[in-house]
Amino acid sequence: MKLLPVGRVIVIGSVNADRILRCPVLPAPGETVLTTAATQGFGGKGANQAVAAARMGAAVHLVAKVGRDADGEAALTDLRGAEVETGSVLTHPDAPTGQAIVMVDPAGENSIVVVPGANAHLTAAEVTAALARLHLLPVDVLLTSGEVPEECIRATAAALPADGTHWVHNAAPAGSLPDTGPTGRRPLVVANAVEARQLTGAPTVEEAARALARRADGVVLTLGSEGALVATEGRSARLPAPAVQVVDTTGAGDVFCGALAAGLARGVSLPAAAATAVAAGAFAVTALGARGALPRPTDL
Ligand code: RIB
Repeated sequence: MKLLPVGRVIVIGSVNADRILRCPVLPAPGETVLTTAATQGFGGKGANQAVAAARMGAAVHLVAKVGRDADGEAALTDLRGAEVETGSVLTHPDAPTGQAIVMVDPAGENSIVVVPGANAHLTAAEVTAALARLHLLPVDVLLTSGEVPEECIRATAAALPADGTHWVHNAAPAGSLPDTGPTGRRPLVVANAVEARQLTGAPTVEEAARALARRADGVVLTLGSEGALVATEGRSARLPAPAVQVVDTTGAGDVFCGALAAGLARGVSLPAAAATAVAAGAFAVTALGARGALPRPTDL
């Protein structure tokens, strides 16, 4: 039997403390609503992705920044408990750990506001130094997202070995696709339908996927109960999602990205890794909070 080398998943991203508010409706502009329940949870797209990838069996390193406060300490303890390597999670002396207000309606849809805090202080130099310490290998998978400064994304692109290493960028929040300048490196972009529309202005997900594919090394659009759309080199394929009871969609995209990165790090093909990621994302929506239901491979 031939054993394939297994890579690590290295996440460059955010760590937040989530305040989760269950609401009868998501407030419209000018509207005030009363919550039906309020809880606290661990969050941040980067941390969620890292924990999800670790649950799927990957060796995971997180490059991030938290505040020197109780939220930061609790987040680090939780990450270590989830077997995420936190040697590259830095602490800011003054800025607080990132916070997120997550409103969830009875259908499980959410609206999120993030106060970046320490996440906004992660620097390109720190990312460069962390990735140099980790000695990237062609089998590794780097995973970035939009809750850290864009200079950190550019530093990630610049640190990629000449060939091999996968780079997955989750365009959330959408903003813009990272401009990687002279590196010429393009990521595999993962976005949901809202983010794809914001990035391209295209009226349909197919058109958005085509427009994004011209600017990326492949595209995966997550489409909630409709699964995902994978587009590479002029071809696209739909991947259906299993039917599940939706409690809260918060973090489903993060679990998708973590599972996708874990699959790619094991050497699985993009369509196969994306199919597993669809199942992982569907599992994630069955409980409240970004970390309420994180699947292990046996759950899928
Ligand atoms: O994707 C969900 C996450 O977005 C939450 O955990 C919140 O912290 C924000 O980063």
